[in-house]
Amino acid sequence: MQTSQIRSSFLEFFQSQDHRLLPSASLIPQDPTLLLTVAGMVPFKPYFLGEADPPAKRIATVQKVARTVDIDNVGRTTRHLTFFEMLGNFSFGDYFKREAIRWAWQLSTTPADEGGWGFDPDRLWATVYTDDDEAEQLWLDETDIPASRIQRRDANDNYWSTGGSGPCGPCSEIFYDRGPEHGPDGGPIVDESRFLEFWNLVFMQFETAGNGDPKLKGSDDIVGTLPAQNVDTGSGLERVAMLLQDVPTVFDTDVFRPMIDRAVDLSGVAYTGTFSAAHVADEDPDPADDTTDTWLRVIGEHARSTAFLISDGVLPSNEGRGYILRRLIRRAVLSARKLGTDQRIMTPMMESVIETLGDAWGDLKTQGNLITKVAQAEEDAFSRTLSTGLVMLDEAVQATTAGGGTALDPEAAFTLHDTYGFPVDLTVEIAREKGVTLDRDAFAEHMEAQRQRARAATKSDRQAASTDVYKEAFQAAGTTTFTGYSRERDESSVAALIHDGAIAERVQEGQNVQVVLPRTPFYAEGGGQLGDHGTIATPTGRIQVTDTTAPADGLIVHHGTVVAGEVASGTDAELVVDHARRASIRRGHTATHILHATLKEMVGDHAAQAGSAIDAGHFRFDFPHFESISRDQLGELEGLVNDRIADNPEVVTREMDQQAAREAGATALFGEKYGDTVRVVTIEDYSMELCGGTHVGSTGEVGLFTVLSEGSIANNVRRIEAVTGPEAFGHLAKERLIAEQVAQILKVPTAEAPARVEELLGRVRDIEKQLARARQDAVLAQADVLAESARVIGDAKVVAGVVDGADHDALRALALDLRNRIGRGAVILGTAKADGKAQMLAALSADLVEAGTNAADVLRPGATVVGGGAGGKGDVAQAGGKDGGKIAEAVRVAADEAAARLA
Ligand code: ALA
Repeated sequence: MQTSQIRSSFLEFFQSQDHRLLPSASLIPQDPTLLLTVAGMVPFKPYFLGEADPPAKRIATVQKVARTVDIDNVGRTTRHLTFFEMLGNFSFGDYFKREAIRWAWQLSTTPADEGGWGFDPDRLWATVYTDDDEAEQLWLDETDIPASRIQRRDANDNYWSTGGSGPCGPCSEIFYDRGPEHGPDGGPIVDESRFLEFWNLVFMQFETAGNGDPKLKGSDDIVGTLPAQNVDTGSGLERVAMLLQDVPTVFDTDVFRPMIDRAVDLSGVAYTGTFSAAHVADEDPDPADDTTDTWLRVIGEHARSTAFLISDGVLPSNEGRGYILRRLIRRAVLSARKLGTDQRIMTPMMESVIETLGDAWGDLKTQGNLITKVAQAEEDAFSRTLSTGLVMLDEAVQATTAGGGTALDPEAAFTLHDTYGFPVDLTVEIAREKGVTLDRDAFAEHMEAQRQRARAATKSDRQAASTDVYKEAFQAAGTTTFTGYSRERDESSVAALIHDGAIAERVQEGQNVQVVLPRTPFYAEGGGQLGDHGTIATPTGRIQVTDTTAPADGLIVHHGTVVAGEVASGTDAELVVDHARRASIRRGHTATHILHATLKEMVGDHAAQAGSAIDAGHFRFDFPHFESISRDQLGELEGLVNDRIADNPEVVTREMDQQAAREAGATALFGEKYGDTVRVVTIEDYSMELCGGTHVGSTGEVGLFTVLSEGSIANNVRRIEAVTGPEAFGHLAKERLIAEQVAQILKVPTAEAPARVEELLGRVRDIEKQLARARQDAVLAQADVLAESARVIGDAKVVAGVVDGADHDALRALALDLRNRIGRGAVILGTAKADGKAQMLAALSADLVEAGTNAADVLRPGATVVGGGAGGKGDVAQAGGKDGGKIAEAVRVAADEAAARLA
């Protein structure tokens, strides 16, 4: 069965069981506690936790999933992946264990020509959690599995959570027996390679704080019971495909094999499809057992993850998800190098992923240009890193062996890894070739220390510290209704107050406060737009609001200070948004959309928004691009955006079904909220974006747009900072004033100022040239006088003198001229420079040099006088010294030295 059919049969089956089908959410989760979407349930966490209402009680999805826990197993086992598609059905307080088990069985065992997957029921096994008698009984009641093929497993295997805080519960898994040639008998508890798990049914009932031993997952770290009993299932598409296509590994399936084949083409190394026995059996595989097949699989696998991560807006960096991406690309590139090829692999590998999966995942196609460019740029940067790293490693190894040692300094290995991104495995391998070893434990200590530092740095206290408090506030207020699209003033009542991180009944004048109300016109920071400011007045006091955030789905929190009286929970409140600030932000937000569309038209579709911040008065817009935007392009961009502002079309906001919005071509911004209906903001036919922000009614209100700066903020990411409306006018007015002042000084009309400045600069350059020539002439003019003053010693002469105002070139020209005139002998010249330092020069005739005297020796006693030394070999030498005041004496001393040597 083709993968496309597996996907569609899954969705059709659950649709027929009344499930709402939703599109996959982004690999970048909304959830701040997770780096990546690690399971199909991630977008639904708030529904399980009761923090938001699901759009339907039954949902089914095919979710893009990225997990790196098994990264070291990739390529070494038949089944581990860092990216896969997860088929999942979900119940939010609707059906529970019975239906979950029944439907999973039905779909699995219904013959393919009747819409199922057609697994042989006699080869299926199930596991249940240690004490889950109910699940075992349901397997017996609802399916044909005999008790002998149901096994119990503890929390290590049959208890599921994301690994962090959130919902969790016991689970039940389905396995397929691949047959005796794949391992020993005895069911999944004996051999998970022969008995391959392909579907996990989680019975979500509890909440974990996520602090427990990760091996025990949530089981001993339960902090609560969920409001309802839920179901979360996950079936790995690639594994199902491997079983149904009857191929030995996930890499041989139709969604995978083309990537392996492309890697074979690129490297010229054949794929044999074999595994080292040690790897297949081993949960903790040893790189020493790697084969060329391992590396081909790593290239193919990491190429898939890379393409999907970039298409969802991840860019390589040194932290967080950007680092995961960087690591994937580097591992793929290293694998290619190990295969012995220096070819650039990323562009063709990305093309292979897009060709293979682009029909199922349209974003791969629309973002194709970005995907290949980013991946290729990262490979190229890494290739340079490898060259630098090899040189540094060579030095470190030499330092080790030079001292007679054989142990590489672990700090050097760590620096190579941490600062230069040079992989430690490579360090070990190369060092080993030179008889040098690395203490991996000492290296690991450095790594751990680094991890601690990183962890400390990423803990976001706004989120972590107050989750519980916000939960309490949310219970008091319910979902906050946002009324700010149509109004800037509203009435509500104070549902909860937070002071110093704790719920408070009253908060006094001068104290910090966070306020939650059932409705508000204040916009909470999101989608790049900053939170509103304003005031909240109650009968007894007034709050100045300086920020508004949404710490959880549906909860809007106003942050500020009580500036008059006191405020108390339960009282009426009048909310007024700071109008000027809001108006400015509105202009900025609409301008961002126009800029986004115009920029893409100008430089290409890859220039999609990668981040923005819209504050009062100005905004910034980040986008991937590979070169700077020229001054001319910027000017053109400003012109086009201002034309679109002046055209004054209406800015239309509509609510629509997310799927419909995507189909209509709305730009789905990365990390957009996952929900049933979305807000779509349209401007004529050039801009259509999913956006929850506030906008002007028609573009003319933006007034004016001008760019403040354009520059690079990271590898291949650029930022435009711009201003709109009165702020833009203010900026341009200031620039005009400066231009006028310049024109006034120049006494020309403003328009002529640049030409006038050019002309003046040209004249300055000419004058400087003339001056230099005049100086040189003046210096050379002293030649006659100096030549006449020569001391005669036999048939030779010594000319010496101090020349004022001579630069180095003039001094040298003069010395050579004098040497020509005297025939045989020495010329010693000196000058005191403008900065007070001394400069000296000696030129000897060739015969003196041939006789064994060199110019530096002659100059040296004089140079000592001015506090310097003489350098150079042969007939001309120069010297510098700090003491220009003694130059006359120094020249005399050097001349005496020359005379002594000639005599
Ligand atoms: N959330 C469960 C998993 O990812 C289904 O295995």
